[in-house]
Order: sequence, then C-alpha cells, then structure tokens
Amino acid sequence: MKKINLTVLFLLLSILSFAADEKTVAVVPTGEPSLGLSSSEMLLAILLLFVLVMLFVSITLLNAFKVMYQEQVNPTPYVAPVKEPVLDYDIWLSQQPKKPSIWTKLLSLRPIEEEGDLVIDHAYDGIKELNNPVPTWFNVLFFGTMIFAVSYLFYYHIGGYGDLQDQEYEQEIAKAQVDKAAYLEKSANTIDESSVKVDKTLAVLQEGRTIFNTNCVVCHGDKGQGIIGPNLTDEYWLHGGGISNVFKTIKYGVPEKGMISWEKNLNPKQMSAVANFVLSLSGTKPAGAKAPQGEKYEAKNPKDNEMKTAKDTVRKEDDAKK
Ligand code: HEC
Repeated sequence: MKKINLTVLFLLLSILSFAADEKTVAVVPTGEPSLGLSSSEMLLAILLLFVLVMLFVSITLLNAFKVMYQEQVNPTPYVAPVKEPVLDYDIWLSQQPKKPSIWTKLLSLRPIEEEGDLVIDHAYDGIKELNNPVPTWFNVLFFGTMIFAVSYLFYYHIGGYGDLQDQEYEQEIAKAQVDKAAYLEKSANTIDESSVKVDKTLAVLQEGRTIFNTNCVVCHGDKGQGIIGPNLTDEYWLHGGGISNVFKTIKYGVPEKGMISWEKNLNPKQMSAVANFVLSLSGTKPAGAKAPQGEKYEAKNPKDNEMKTAKDTVRKEDDAKK
C-alpha cells in the first residue's frame, strides 16, 4: 500500500514539475494567457491532476479504514507507560559523557571540577575571579585575520597577482563602455517615429549635417532655406515640426510632392540624426529663405520635446575623455 502511495505522490510531483517546466519553454503564443498550453490541454492536465489527487486521497482513506478495522477486530492492549526513575544530580552528572563536545572545545570551557585551578588569587568582598582561557573561536578569528592580512598584502601589493580596486574599476568601466556602445548601436537601429527623441549632442548634429549636405541640399538648400523643398528654418511646417513628425516625413517622404522616402537609403540612426539637425536649423533665418509654407507649428505633443536621456546618450564627459 505504501508503495502505491509513494508512486502516486511521485506522479503528482512530476506533473507539477512538468507544469513548471512548461513555463520556461517558449511556446508560440496562442492568444490565451496560459502556461503555453491550449485550453483543451490545460483541461486535460487539470483533470489528470484531479484524478491523481482523488487517487491519493482514496488510498490514504483506505489505509486509515484498514487500521481502524484491524483495531476493531483485535485491539492493541493498553500498556501503562514505564516510569523512569528520577536520578540524583551527581549520579546523572557521572553518567554524562566524559569527552568534551565540540561546543565545549570551541568555547574552551573547562569542566566544573577543574574550576579550582582557575581561581585567581584575589577576592573582593568574597567575589572570586576565574582566569578562563581565551576561547578557541576567538583565537582562530584573531590569528585568522593576521594570516589574511599578510596574504592579502602579499597577493595584492607585493606580488601584484590580483587587481587593485582602481584597476578593477577601470576594467569594469572599459567593459561597460563596450557594452554601452553595443547597446547604443542596437537601440539606434530600432528607432522609429514613436521612439525618436530630441538629441542636441554635437556628434549627432555633426552626423546630421553630413547626411544633410550629401542628400538634402539639392532641394532644401545648403542652409535649409528651401529651393524645391520648403524652408526648414522657419516655424511653419507642412507636416508638423516635432521631432517625430520630422522623422516621419524623412522616413516615409511625401512622394507625390517630390520629397522621397529615405527609409531605404538611411538607417534609423541616420534619419534620427538628420531629423535632429533639421530641427537645429530652426530660427537661423538664412539669406534668401523661401517664404513660409504650411502652418505655424506649436509643440503640443509632449514627445516633441522629449530629450534623449543619459541612459541612451553617451555622456559628454565620456566623449571628452576619448
Ligand atoms: C528631391 C528633392 C528633395 C530632397 C532630395 C529632399 N527633400 Fe525634403 N522635401 C522636398 C519637398 C518637395 C518637400 C515638400 C513636401 C510637401 O509639399 O508636402 C519636402 C519636405 C520636407 C520636410 C517637411 C517640411 C515641412 O514643412 O513639413 C522635411 C522635414 C524634409 N523635407 C527633410 C528632408 C531631408 C532631411 C532630406 C535629406 C535626407 C530631404 N528632405 C531631401 C524635397 C526634397
């Protein structure tokens, strides 16, 4: 009977762990929030679990009934508990194991019979003092710190085997720079009109200027004053003047009006750079500027002014260091 019970328990546990395993496996989402199982599989699993629980309960009950039945048929006779005789303290003490326990050794406790040897030869008001030995644990700690200090000194300062704090810091920073560059590279290429942000860092604006000079000057003029394309330096915009609007215009273009889509020629990072550069032209009032077109743009969308945070910008100090 016991064996069956154990088997059932084991089955239960394995089902539970199976369910837990399921969670970690990436399954194509079916739209239903489950453990990655379809509803019928889920139902089956629950049913199976229920059956197993029922089985477990019935076997336990069966066992209990069996014991009850046996007790009914031939009851176990009552046996009065045996009373242990109460020992005298000295006898009890003499029966205790003589060998000191680890605990006693650690604390360097001396047996009470040896107390006489420990008494210091003076007494005040009849109060005697014992000269107990220094506990082992304390000595281990004390000498341990000394040994540690010497090995530390040798390892880090004399032998130079380990990295000092400063070196460790430098290494971690260097690694973080690499990670950060990788992260920025990755995040830059996922920029789209909903995630693009205002970024006025010099490097970005310079990149934007280069892109503008090679791609946009023919139609928008070398200062953004407008030739075929509209003036980009005024407050009037045909398609909105916020960073995401400008990004969108550049990305998708206005093909029917002669502004091409740059999605295929520029990557998201470049488009974001040139969009930021275009915004930086605002208010420059270049000579021969084209008359305003479109509507005066007022930044209503809070995203228009959302700056790139320190998290996704290489810090200025870092740039300066390089
Ligand atoms: C072939 C000519 C041409 C080139 C090259 C060109 N544009 Fe344009 N651009 C236009 C025209 C034309 C419009 C106006 C579209 C309209 O009337 O809807 C325009 C509109 C825009 C606008 C929207 C202005 C507003 O008022 O809303 C932006 C921003 C812009 N261009 C940026 C750029 C950038 C950045 C580049 C370079 C990557 C570029 N353009 C290259 C012709 C061009």
